[in-house]
Amino acid sequence: MWREKIISLLILFVVVGFQSIPAASGSPVGFDVRQHLSTVTRYEVGKHYRGGSDEAVPPVPSGCVPIHLNLVARHGTRAPTKKRIKQLDELIAKVSKLDRKDGSKVPAWLKDFHSPWEGRTYGGELLPEGEQELYELGQRLRERYPTLFQYDYHPDVYPITATQVARSAASAVAFGMGLFEGKGRLGGSNHRAFSVITDSRDRDIHLRFHESCMAYKESKKLRKPAVQVFQDDVYRQVAAAVGPRYELDLTHEDVEGFWLLCKEEASLLNITDRACGLFNAAEVELLEWADDVQAHHLKGYGEAINYQMGVPLLEDVVSSMDQSIAADKGTQKNGAVESARLRVAHAETVIPFTCLLGLFMEGGDVKSLQSEKSMKHPARPPHQRVWKGSVVAPFGANTALVLYKCPKKAEGTVSSAENASEYLVQVLHNEKPISMPACNGRHFCPFTEFKETVAGPHLKNTFETVCKVEVTPPKISWPRRVYQRVSQILQWPFQTANLNSPDSRTCKAY
Ligand SMILES: *[C@@H]1O[C@H](CO)[C@@H](O)[C@H](O)[C@H]1NC(C)=O
Ligand SMILES: *[C@@H]1O[C@H](CO)[C@@H](O)[C@H](O)[C@H]1NC(C)=O
Repeated sequence: MWREKIISLLILFVVVGFQSIPAASGSPVGFDVRQHLSTVTRYEVGKHYRGGSDEAVPPVPSGCVPIHLNLVARHGTRAPTKKRIKQLDELIAKVSKLDRKDGSKVPAWLKDFHSPWEGRTYGGELLPEGEQELYELGQRLRERYPTLFQYDYHPDVYPITATQVARSAASAVAFGMGLFEGKGRLGGSNHRAFSVITDSRDRDIHLRFHESCMAYKESKKLRKPAVQVFQDDVYRQVAAAVGPRYELDLTHEDVEGFWLLCKEEASLLNITDRACGLFNAAEVELLEWADDVQAHHLKGYGEAINYQMGVPLLEDVVSSMDQSIAADKGTQKNGAVESARLRVAHAETVIPFTCLLGLFMEGGDVKSLQSEKSMKHPARPPHQRVWKGSVVAPFGANTALVLYKCPKKAEGTVSSAENASEYLVQVLHNEKPISMPACNGRHFCPFTEFKETVAGPHLKNTFETVCKVEVTPPKISWPRRVYQRVSQILQWPFQTANLNSPDSRTCKAY
């Protein structure tokens, strides 16, 4: 089944692959490469854009008060990972051998080039800029929802979870420091200690499902080469345009390397006139698109399993709201009442979660989403698209679900369904309210409807069924079949039959 899909993927890529890059050599006024770095974009930059949709945001229906908040956030800005640093080191090794003609147009910086991270054997840690992003997010949330964050800290009132990866846990700490500053007795700013709970990395089905879902890992392994072929094709086209401009012999690998360097330099060091300066606006947009298409196929709407495996997280979110409503109705009186459930994880968490909620869907095809069909990737620039890594998952990206309690006949609500409902769900992405296509495009979705039309189609799955690796028994030639049958009948001590038992390779480590 996967093989057929890969072939169709390839065909799709070939069809969109060959078009020329617009000839414009300079960059239009106002073009800022820092807004086009896909998932390497800084939060400050990414949060201002909403992927082309500037819809009007209706106010909170009057009489409604927030009673619970769910947060799923990505860690803040981080240093390049070890793998990326190695890639950059390889680029340096190559660049030093690039053929430069005398008096050539090779940019000056490239003549004695060293990566800022050259030879570093560690990476991936949260940077001070990333701490700032999460710390400030904590402060803004508490300002925005004073009633939700008015209580003394208690781990049951404000549970904070992170993944067992240092940058995620550190981000959760920075976030908590912003959220609870002034509420304790520690130091000049009256900090207070709080707990950040993590699940073991290989069993974390709520926040690191991409690592514990065997079927996803298999499917990704099979699909990745086709996506790489597609990306290489884009890099090749860019190389063909950039190489002659600087009289450099560039391969698609060089372009991939320079684009990586551009993203890290621009995002982490605010340097935009070196590696990024090699590319004009049209080329940057193409490179950004290639990144976004990769995210679409391997993390987003491109394949249902990418987000289906996030069902434990979705269940956790829905059940936290169920519990909050039960507590509000007084049917659940034991224990502290939870005010907010706060999670800090990765792009691999935030992206599938936005898909489960049906956000940033190209063309808003709700039916396809509800039946969990794989979707086509966004069209090549200059076509506009809503699916942008810089908006969906920049560093510090976050999706919040705010549960409101409303008087039975809330004034200002528009539909009869809303009138009848006491509890409404609002979604904010990067702190901006966003409508839910799967809830009739509403901003305030009645909780019952949210459960039915937004979460419902995905909640019919379980992590176990989605993530189990299906093993089809290999086709067996007839002489071997006869031999097996005979050996079974005679109960010879050969174990041949077991080799084909469908369960023998099923992976149990969900
Ligand atoms: C980044 O550089 C621009 C100039 O290109 C400057 O205006 C801006 O203040 C710098 N930002 C930071 C955070 O240093
Ligand atoms: C919903 O509430 C509004 C405001 O109170 C009211 O004008 C409207 O008629 C109600 N709709 C229904 C169907 O009850």
